[in-house]
Amino acid sequence: NVTPELAPPPKAEAQPKKRRNWRDHLTSYDEVDNDEDGIVVKRRPTNTEEEERIPNENVYSGNEKFKQDEERELAEKPTKKEVMDIAAVRANLPIYSFREDLIKAVKTGQTLIVIGETGSGKSTQISQYLMEEGFADRGVIGITQPRRVGAVSVARRVAEECDCDIGDMVGYSVRFGDQTSPKTKIKYMTDGVLLRECLLDPMLKRYSVIILDEAHERSVNTDILFGLMKMTLAKRPDLKLLITSATLDQGKFSHYFNNSRVFFCPGRSYPVDIFYLDEPNKDYVDKAVRTAIRIHEEEGKGDILIFLTGQYEIEEACNRLEKEMQKLYKRKPDMQDLVIVPLYAALPPGEQSKVFQPAPTGTRKVVVATNIAETSLTVEGVVFVIDPGYVKQTGFNATTGMESLEVVYISQVAAQQRAGRGGRTRPGKCYRLYTKTEYDNLIPSTVPEIQRSNLCNVILTLKAMGVGDILGFEFLDPPDPVLLIDAMKQLFFLGALQPDGSLTTVGEKMAKFPLDPKFSRALVAASETGCTRDMLSLVAMLSIENIFYRPSTKEGRAKSDDKRRELFEDISGHVPDEITGDHVALLYLYDSWLDSHKDNKFCNEYFVQPRHMKEADDIRKQLHEIMETEKLSLSDKKGRYSERMERLSLALCQGLYINAAKRFNRPPEAKPKHLREKINNDEDLAHNQYQDYTYVVMNRGQLALVHPQSAVLLSPQQQAPEWIVYGDLVQTTRVFMRTVCGVKEEWLEVLHERKKDLNVSKLVGRDVREVVSSLKLAQAVSTEIVDSKYDESHAEE
Ligand code: CDP
Repeated sequence: NVTPELAPPPKAEAQPKKRRNWRDHLTSYDEVDNDEDGIVVKRRPTNTEEEERIPNENVYSGNEKFKQDEERELAEKPTKKEVMDIAAVRANLPIYSFREDLIKAVKTGQTLIVIGETGSGKSTQISQYLMEEGFADRGVIGITQPRRVGAVSVARRVAEECDCDIGDMVGYSVRFGDQTSPKTKIKYMTDGVLLRECLLDPMLKRYSVIILDEAHERSVNTDILFGLMKMTLAKRPDLKLLITSATLDQGKFSHYFNNSRVFFCPGRSYPVDIFYLDEPNKDYVDKAVRTAIRIHEEEGKGDILIFLTGQYEIEEACNRLEKEMQKLYKRKPDMQDLVIVPLYAALPPGEQSKVFQPAPTGTRKVVVATNIAETSLTVEGVVFVIDPGYVKQTGFNATTGMESLEVVYISQVAAQQRAGRGGRTRPGKCYRLYTKTEYDNLIPSTVPEIQRSNLCNVILTLKAMGVGDILGFEFLDPPDPVLLIDAMKQLFFLGALQPDGSLTTVGEKMAKFPLDPKFSRALVAASETGCTRDMLSLVAMLSIENIFYRPSTKEGRAKSDDKRRELFEDISGHVPDEITGDHVALLYLYDSWLDSHKDNKFCNEYFVQPRHMKEADDIRKQLHEIMETEKLSLSDKKGRYSERMERLSLALCQGLYINAAKRFNRPPEAKPKHLREKINNDEDLAHNQYQDYTYVVMNRGQLALVHPQSAVLLSPQQQAPEWIVYGDLVQTTRVFMRTVCGVKEEWLEVLHERKKDLNVSKLVGRDVREVVSSLKLAQAVSTEIVDSKYDESHAEE
């Protein structure tokens, strides 16, 4: 029962084998493509190559047609018509009919809470309405987004709607990326950027309106901004604040913001039928792919949206969808095409925008997305939603000091939001890949991030803004005092806080860097030690997550590990064993990349993404600028490579020494080759056999293993260092230390010295025992406050 307009064009069935892969429509030059032989990095096509890529009549697939339509549209549409189209689209958004009432509400109060369904037009329209009404004449209209992707993509969309270049009247600012100019009137930014601006100017003088968007996401930064904005509003009666959200406990918000008004903007949504599984299901990627193919085969018009947890899962699902489609074409040669579109934060912005383009006539689009598509980005045309019920979420446990990025169940509110994505344009269907009982057992709503995060950075920022009493700060949902006290202790050990909790000069400098305080401390230390050049490169490299690409196939992984091993072998003779590790390796990688003249081939060879290297390079430049502005010494000492690396490790240790660990067992003199191979082939087995890479984490008295992908395990010659510092602890099957570096024992002595000055009550400015007992957390905190001394017998337990 394929309707005529859904019938495929006649040429489609003739050449099913020449259909292009879903990746083919990713045109980014550095897209890494994984195949059986390892990886192939595609360069951005030159003009001639691009022409060659445009298929002749025989090559045809959904994705390719998608591209053709897009190109034709770009070439053919007159600008005037485009403008008219945009005006029509804008007028058609649900929020449009509330424009006048909304403006009135903004004018009558200082704070306004706006609740409207996802896609009603809050993020893109409110800022424009306010500008049209003259609010931007007195200052910039600033809108925060919890995600980088959100800030960039919404800004691009609004610039398009305003018919201006990005960075002109409409701009955005994200960490290490500023696209604004003195002409900018509407500025989208991440909540982290506004938080940093509050540091420089707590009165936010350049703004006339602040809109905290996506408030329901409850990111740490947005939560902190709630508190800060309350203080700023009291001093700046002319400043307007809007809190916008899809779903929200409006009573609680209104009460928090001095009983501010709540403005509802009903969306235009259609009913969505919900389907549950009869039996619980584990392999949700497989189930999601099968469900999508079945929908494609059996259901009528409408796009599909699949929610998965991250990039790798999404790529796997896209590959499997492609394979299933090939099979389907064989069975049913006249099957309509399926355009497969991935959507995750690390996707280049140009690729992200493809999600918003409608599928060409005669095809169906399937968007395979992370949680971004839940409320941040609205994908039009979705009728079928596939919800496996999982999300990747950060967590932090103050008692163990461990940060985690885990796949966890979503909440019921999130499940409802996801289902709602299917009812935007017509009645939809949502396939929940879990049972009704499982749904009933989900937590009602997600715990705010602030209650499950490491708060060091936030506290440093608050302190730098003059908030002395952190425990007394007016949080909407106060974090566990254990988390706050733990973070303040860490800042004290870093030398950022005085024993009485006030900021030190070092702390003031640290607060200027948009970095984890451990790394801003290392940078400040580097300017004293005379190794700023290397530390800037290293910290920039550490700012990129997963710099090494690990292919999904076993062979590919082995190849990539071999290349990394080569890299470590190169330096192993030049760096003293006791300070070797991931940090020197990362620096060596960066320097080698510079030596290669930033060559993409180099990246390809060493399994790193050129895009990531360029990003690190950009970050380095910006950190360098901050060092200059802050007048931190940039003069480096000269010396041999090993001396350079020693200075680097020493400075790094100043930032990481709270994360010190001592080797638990002496490793054998040389590591047998078969064990080395096992490390790469069977991670778990390797851990069982690799007890010599077990360390005792000093301030917790707990055992942890060096992460199997660490340079310390991959480099063949040297021994495991006696003392190391680690970047972070993660708990998966075991407790692992990631990004480790050897240090000298005497470098750690300063920690013991500083511990002597620690008086937690003095530090936090409250009688901690009183605070804690009033919160019935006495037991949890007292174990936390008494720093566990290093005790091997305790560790052994
Ligand atoms: O903020 P809210 O969820 O209420 O809606 P919005 O993000 O302002 O989206 C309004 C419309 O703009 C939707 O139809 C989106 O699909 C569209 N949009 C877009 O085309 N491109 C973007 N980058 C963002 C939104």
